[in-house]
Amino acid sequence: MNETTKLNETTNLNRRRLLTTLSVAGAGALMIGCRENTRSTGGATNDDGKEPAPGEAVPVQVTVAEDLMREHGILRRALLVYQESAVKLRQDAASFPAEVLEKTAQLFRVFGEDYHEKRLEEVYIFPTIKNAPGGARAYADVLLAQHARGREITDYLLSVSKADRISTHQVEPLAKALESFVRMYEHHAALEDTVVFPAWKTATGEQEYEELSAKFEEVEMEIFGADGFESALKRMEEIEASLGLTNLDMFTAPPPPK
Ligand SMILES: [Fe+2]
Ligand SMILES: [Fe+2]
Repeated sequence: MNETTKLNETTNLNRRRLLTTLSVAGAGALMIGCRENTRSTGGATNDDGKEPAPGEAVPVQVTVAEDLMREHGILRRALLVYQESAVKLRQDAASFPAEVLEKTAQLFRVFGEDYHEKRLEEVYIFPTIKNAPGGARAYADVLLAQHARGREITDYLLSVSKADRISTHQVEPLAKALESFVRMYEHHAALEDTVVFPAWKTATGEQEYEELSAKFEEVEMEIFGADGFESALKRMEEIEASLGLTNLDMFTAPPPPK
């Protein structure tokens, strides 16, 4: 069996594991009608019209563009894990749990690359903006090239994180790969949010946008069942907890110099 076949088999196994976890973790989440999903934040009421308990999921309507942007939110949280992993690896590679990196790369592969990029952006969004008037068309090719480079880096991350621990000679190349991936994808997602998705919405027109809303829901259901976003969010929270990143206040910047 060659290396590519082995990697494909590992990825398929990882996908099955993640899908099992997604399915179990998201049991009970709602997916009613057109892009109606759940969220676990405050400010809305549950089905009984009462204030939700902390962490309780409540229905929320999201448009297609909002849905794509909150998928970026999951991916940005994965980038935060990559960034913190690079710091921790350089500080003390011997105590860094490589499985955290493996789980994050699996999530990025299944939710980010195979679903968000390959099934939505590359099929519906990039071809539309490439043929539409306006400045966004200039970005289509480089965004596509960045998807491809991202997949190469994810292959590398999945391969290097199979061991329990990262060996000393792997630390610096791994940390650099993590940092360059974060740098690329932060710019990539920011540009999609602010230029590409709005241009796509404008080029699509109201009726087709509505139809695509149903289509995107179909794709999400086909791949993840009824609760893809919620399950990915739960998995991301578990990964953050295992790396000690759940306290938002730890990221509050120090005061500036006086
Ligand atoms: Fe993209
Ligand atoms: Fe994207």
